[in-house]
Amino acid sequence: MRFSVFVALLLGVLNVSSLVQAHVDINVVACQTGDVDPEDEKGLDGDELFYIDFAKGEVVSRTPEFIGQWGAPGWVDQARTHQQVCKNNLDVAVKAENSPTEEIDPPEVTVYPRNKVLPGRSNILICFANNFFPAPVKVRWTKNDVEVTEGVTLSRYYPNKDFTFTQYSTIPFTPQEGDVYSCSVEHKGLPEPYTRLWDGYFHHMQNECRYSSEDLTDLEFISRYIFNKVEYARYNSTSNKFTGYTEHGVKNADRANREGENAQQHTNLDGYCRPNAQRYFKNILWHTVEPSVEVSSVKPFSQRHPMMLACSAYDFYPAGIKLTWLRDGKEVKTDVTSTEELYDVDWYHQIHSYLEFTPKSGETIACKVEHSSLSEAKIYPWDPSVSAGDRNKVIIGASGLVLGLILSLAGLIYYKKKSTGEVLNYLPLHCVILPWENPRTNKLNSVISQLSSGEQLCGTQLRGPTSSFMILAVIFLTFIFNFKHR
Ligand SMILES: *[C@@H]1O[C@H](CO)[C@@H](O)[C@H](O)[C@H]1NC(C)=O
Repeated sequence: MRFSVFVALLLGVLNVSSLVQAHVDINVVACQTGDVDPEDEKGLDGDELFYIDFAKGEVVSRTPEFIGQWGAPGWVDQARTHQQVCKNNLDVAVKAENSPTEEIDPPEVTVYPRNKVLPGRSNILICFANNFFPAPVKVRWTKNDVEVTEGVTLSRYYPNKDFTFTQYSTIPFTPQEGDVYSCSVEHKGLPEPYTRLWDGYFHHMQNECRYSSEDLTDLEFISRYIFNKVEYARYNSTSNKFTGYTEHGVKNADRANREGENAQQHTNLDGYCRPNAQRYFKNILWHTVEPSVEVSSVKPFSQRHPMMLACSAYDFYPAGIKLTWLRDGKEVKTDVTSTEELYDVDWYHQIHSYLEFTPKSGETIACKVEHSSLSEAKIYPWDPSVSAGDRNKVIIGASGLVLGLILSLAGLIYYKKKSTGEVLNYLPLHCVILPWENPRTNKLNSVISQLSSGEQLCGTQLRGPTSSFMILAVIFLTFIFNFKHR
């Protein structure tokens, strides 16, 4: 029996991202009105290193085996303190910004399989919720209209550049004829909630160590204070200043600079960013995993051309790849569509590029791949004999969409490496922004000592904005197989 598979991804067709970016080591501390869903997580270049399970009081490592486990002693206590700071800043910001209208952006949802879809071959479906605010989303999966919970995972949420978030959910599946899967995402911005999420405001802090090269000459520590999706204050180690972006932010930034809080923040550059960056270069950033690439014939998206080829690259690390189509050695730019780099949630990535074309006899078509794991570009020619005669088809259709949620799935392990057992420096508590309304609380040190001794600084319960409505999105996946024995 021989078959080829057709996969149509109806959502998420976007541009190719660029090759190399600066490194960003990020710590996100988030809190909300009503003290729900506290978050403290650490990531590197968009991949998740670990997060804090506040209920269990432990650090949960999210690194794949080829990276090894990373410890962070002291981080749990630190995270609890950061939560107090976050909640204090939230309460202060709600008052100082006069209880603004709550920002709500519903998610956009994309569903894609982790691996190439083959009938009967176990696989993973990933439901990717993007560009939503506030976090988090909830995700529910059904198979043939029956809810499935077994094996379902939900990732933490990660910030985008515009302070919206992304989140992933995964479910194991084995493609079988006629099965229909759906991923429902719930969010404040979506109608028809089946569970209540929460009312209230969202505040978060992003502590970032940014650098582009191993010598760390451009190392920068940035600490952002974001309320209701608006960055109201930022500390920047290069200028060694706080800068405010709203009235509330400006007042606090001026005060912090006056009181020498900027100098304290600056110690994070060498006490926190630098040692961790050195560890990342030594243990993580040198890793590359070569993509596994396949060029195959698929059903065209449009009527423009009779044929379409897909160039699929799976299982590469890190992100940042370039696929180019070559026709008789010359680069083709027209009639090319590509997905974004899709995250597999386990530190690996995948991408798909499509070329629609009208075949000419005697020509050669190839997919050129450039990635940091390859010392030079690698060419994958299309072999027409391989995909001759599509006898079996899998169609993955996605319909509906809107809203976000995340799931994450722990890893498929391809490379066994010993655990490095690295220990990270944690961020000292230098990130308090105090209410400017009350000069008597403007004594930073006393606040820090209160916080350090575990005292509740911010017991004020705030009422949330009136209605929270939710959004529900459903994605259907349909798999259709037509087997023919040859
Ligand atoms: C930090 O400040 C420097 C110098 O003013 C500036 O070049 C850089 O872009 C700033 N970085 C951020 C993230 O704001």
